[in-house]
Amino acid sequence: MNLVTTFVFIFKLLNAALPYKILIYSNLYGHSHIKVLNTVADTLTDAGHNVTIFRPIIESSQLDKSSVKTKNVIYIEPDEEVVEKMSKIDQFSGSLWTFDSTHPSAMIAKSNALVGFFGTQCKKVMRQQKILDQLRDENFDLAITEPVDGCAYAIFEYLKIRDHVTVLSCVRFDHVSDILGQPIAPSYVPGTQSFFNDRMTMKERLLNFIQFYYGRFTFANILDQEYEMAKDILGIQRSWREVLPEASFIFSNHIPVLDFPSPTFDKIIPIGGFTVKTNEKSLKIDKKWDAILNIRKKNVLISFGSNAKSKDMPEEYKKTLLRVFSSMPDTTFIWKYEDPNVNIAKNLDNVFISSWLPQNELLADSRVTVFVTHGGLASVMELALMGKPAIMIPIFADQGRNAQMLKRHGGAAVLQKTDLSNFDLVRDTLNDVLTKPSYKLNAKKLAEMLNNQPTNAKEVLVKHVEFAARFGKLPMLDNYGRHQNIVEYYFIDILTIILSVLISVFYIFVRLLRFMLSRNRSTKDKRV
Ligand SMILES: *[C@@H]1O[C@H](CO)[C@@H](O)[C@H](O)[C@H]1NC(C)=O
Repeated sequence: MNLVTTFVFIFKLLNAALPYKILIYSNLYGHSHIKVLNTVADTLTDAGHNVTIFRPIIESSQLDKSSVKTKNVIYIEPDEEVVEKMSKIDQFSGSLWTFDSTHPSAMIAKSNALVGFFGTQCKKVMRQQKILDQLRDENFDLAITEPVDGCAYAIFEYLKIRDHVTVLSCVRFDHVSDILGQPIAPSYVPGTQSFFNDRMTMKERLLNFIQFYYGRFTFANILDQEYEMAKDILGIQRSWREVLPEASFIFSNHIPVLDFPSPTFDKIIPIGGFTVKTNEKSLKIDKKWDAILNIRKKNVLISFGSNAKSKDMPEEYKKTLLRVFSSMPDTTFIWKYEDPNVNIAKNLDNVFISSWLPQNELLADSRVTVFVTHGGLASVMELALMGKPAIMIPIFADQGRNAQMLKRHGGAAVLQKTDLSNFDLVRDTLNDVLTKPSYKLNAKKLAEMLNNQPTNAKEVLVKHVEFAARFGKLPMLDNYGRHQNIVEYYFIDILTIILSVLISVFYIFVRLLRFMLSRNRSTKDKRV
């Protein structure tokens, strides 16, 4: 620390209420990830802090959907290669419906695809010498990022950022648990991309363990490859494996009473649900939707999110859904279907299709009876907080786990995507969730609990960020376990000693016994 930074540091320690200068490194990629970091940015801006967003553009189509309150946004235009790769991504949507996302080869393929986007754009970012110099001169108090793309950690290291915190858009990330030394407990904690709940059969436990391994690889591989580039371009020494665990706090998008219990650390701070708008005034629904909801007593909302598009699902699945809709003429179905030119349900007057839905607003409306969803975490949080019964049909990534997480509370049923070819199963499940009172009661009870939690997620976020910005790195929260080797961690040295002593004692005992027996025999012999 030189003299100036020492003074700045002392000044910060004494002035707790200062607006802090905060850098948020947020890739423009993936709606759910952008939404989480944007909410963090807006929450901190609202709390009076000076937030700068550093935003390498990967998915240009997200630009108009990602406005933030802060005026300081630094964009890095997408690399040509990234533009070309992204233009082909729409073809990917169809395959999401059919591939087994938990298969190791699928996870490896996904990892390599992501390296293609993130790594290429990261290279471009690292070559922006002027902007990086400018960022260094800003002397930020704190930096924030999400460890999906690891480019940020190379930049933080290069800029010698004083302190940083990490935000997870998922409930957990296996590669982050791994690098923090957080016990993963695969016998009862479903991995990030697992489709099981906490009560697994022997086969499921084995598969969960394998998924943990490959789930960790999916992201660790991206971050490792980016570090290799950073070593060459920026000349930094330390990789994300050393930088990330130094984060003062890891904010995870999970709510303890909603999630499966699992071993955790004090520096992992749950702020789940903080992206959901629950303020009724901001949730006024517009006339068009109001009229539709008034037609029938029961309204079912169907949306599979933005990655796997309904228009790209196998024809067989579409047919099943349409058959189910037509078998329930007393129910209105509102289906997020992304092809505005084709009205796939033109023969059915109880079906409304739209390429976009005001989902948060519709879920908050008491006339919507059931939500059929892919189980993206944002949707699950909205569902849980609004108390709606649901059918979850997970497609990929963390959706399988999210579905099981919500099902455990009794307000949701789970189908697998392949079940969409089974008309009877889909109709019966929907019928159950629509008519059995237990779904509604359990969903309401969960919502009541979640809306009355002892802590407020946004407040928790702001207070912890201010604490980190004020006091810098918090090495006292860094568990020593992650520095231990396997022998120390699993007591192998001590077990070895105990085992050797036991074996020695046993050996001596046996020798002694033999000796005594042989003496006995020889004295007997003498007596005779
Ligand atoms: C916030 O930070 C930006 C970038 O460093 C700076 O230009 C601006 O003046 C700051 N605003 C306030 C209110 O301090």
